[in-house]
Amino acid sequence: MKWTVGTLVKRATEILKERGIKTARLDAELLLAHSLGFSDRVKLYTEFDRPLTEEEVESYRKLIVRRAKGEPVAYITGKKEFYGFTFRVERGVLIPRPETELLVDVVLDYLEGKEGKIIVDVGTGSGCIIITLCKLLKNKHRYIGTDISSIAIKVAEKNRRIHGCREVEFIKTDLLKGVEPPVDVVVSNPPYVPIGDRRLEESVRKFEPAVALFGGKDGLEVIRKLIPQAYEKLKSGGLIALEVGKGQAEAVKELLEASGFRDVKFHRDLSGKERVVSALK
Ligand SMILES: C[S@@+](CC[C@H](N)C(=O)[O-])C[C@H]1O[C@@H](n2cnc3c(N)ncnc32)[C@H](O)[C@@H]1O
Repeated sequence: MKWTVGTLVKRATEILKERGIKTARLDAELLLAHSLGFSDRVKLYTEFDRPLTEEEVESYRKLIVRRAKGEPVAYITGKKEFYGFTFRVERGVLIPRPETELLVDVVLDYLEGKEGKIIVDVGTGSGCIIITLCKLLKNKHRYIGTDISSIAIKVAEKNRRIHGCREVEFIKTDLLKGVEPPVDVVVSNPPYVPIGDRRLEESVRKFEPAVALFGGKDGLEVIRKLIPQAYEKLKSGGLIALEVGKGQAEAVKELLEASGFRDVKFHRDLSGKERVVSALK
């Protein structure tokens, strides 16, 4: 059988659907565009009737097999969009999520009209939060990303170079250890999934790094350690902004207030969930 772009996408979509993948069509398109070296999947539509060589079909088949086994598209293509920028990702580093863009918005609001601030992103992963802030605010501030994972620091460095953000420094450390006070902003999307949480999708559990996901029994173990450290390192009037999991906002508010933070606010994501908790020192 002679495959074309159109017929192959259709067949791959069917295969992925049979495996229960909800985003089957989108994934089939993203993977074919990647496999053919197209910068954008929209190009598939202008080449819909293009016949494919056996080698092209075979390379694509391998990608579809990986996806059918549950591997996320971003690990297969090695990239993910965040806040309109493309970030490199690989196994061992969390794939940036669209919900996390809210964390960037909260920090941007706080920094409006300010200059010369020191911003620390704790648990930087791919570096998506701190690099996005640097891309948007340029050399107005100093930017630091920390992570306990060597792979994360390596990938974040790669992204820093790709995005030409010389103002960003990455430090391999435990939370804020070794970060010189005083700082103006502590922003973090920490691991907050309770161990054994049944709501976690299987592909996430199977493919994404445990160190990036799990925050102990109640999910709050890392946050519990981070809050007092942040209080110690922040300037008076400084901001802490934390992404939290479902149902954690109230508990995080209590932890913040117990450490001395004030003006605690909840920020809702597009689906209406309390996704970010912020406070001032
Ligand atoms: C949920 S991921 C967030 C990654 C990235 N900031 C993002 O939003 O896509 C949490 C990150 O925290 C890091 N991490 C876990 N425990 C840490 C610790 N004690 N100190 C520093 N980083 C830690 C993990 O390696 C992981 O990269």
